[in-house]
Amino acid sequence: MCRERVRAEQAIIAIDGPAGAGKSTVAQELSRRLRLRYLDTGAMYRALTLKALRVHLDLDDERGLAGMARSTEIASGYEAGGKPPYRVLMDGEDVTAAIRSREVSVHVSQVSSHSAVRKEMVRKQRLLAGKGGVVVEGRDVGTVVFPHAHLKFFLTASTAERARRRYREMKEEGYDVSLKTVQQEMVRRDRLDRTRKVNPLRRAPDALLVDTTGMSASQVVDRLLRLARSRLAG
Ligand code: DC
Repeated sequence: MCRERVRAEQAIIAIDGPAGAGKSTVAQELSRRLRLRYLDTGAMYRALTLKALRVHLDLDDERGLAGMARSTEIASGYEAGGKPPYRVLMDGEDVTAAIRSREVSVHVSQVSSHSAVRKEMVRKQRLLAGKGGVVVEGRDVGTVVFPHAHLKFFLTASTAERARRRYREMKEEGYDVSLKTVQQEMVRRDRLDRTRKVNPLRRAPDALLVDTTGMSASQVVDRLLRLARSRLAG
């Protein structure tokens, strides 16, 4: 982690952790409260997975996927004026909802396991973060993408709670799934993300660990805001 105290508008804040730890809700709210941009790196892997599934590309074809990653334009951000919702565009198409489909969720770990794919995504993520002033969420942000981030958080929660949160989200999105299936799929995805050879999900030694089990999103945001304000200048 970079020890230099910078103002929030120049800072890179990394938030990593497993699925369902509350990263998206918290990272988005934190970015709004600190008036920073927000970058969801998982959405980028999801957009690539969606495109590969649509054209029936073999998901073990590392070179093919890396080529597709290079030629795909992925843009994201809030509406003008920094207002939610956060939208994700793939080659100009709004794929915000499509990348959350169950099919994409089931296959994204396979796509993101390839070294050449990750290399290209990390390059894109560094470009998108630019000179800072951004909250970046993912699995390897504090370890690989921005090892010198000014502030790093690693969010976790118990498996049961993470599965319950994901289950509620999926129900709200209209999916007919059982809690058991959601938990099984989540545990499988976490195992793949933690055990892959390249850039696995792990906590950077200098990341602040926050266990969100039993905490509401606003309690987590308040905690992160306090920590951010104590460590950033101004
Ligand atoms: O955060 P998410 O569930 O939308 O992420 C989708 C998948 O993308 C996740 O299973 C692992 C992968 N991912 C990754 O490998 N590296 C990142 N920085 C972000 C996500």
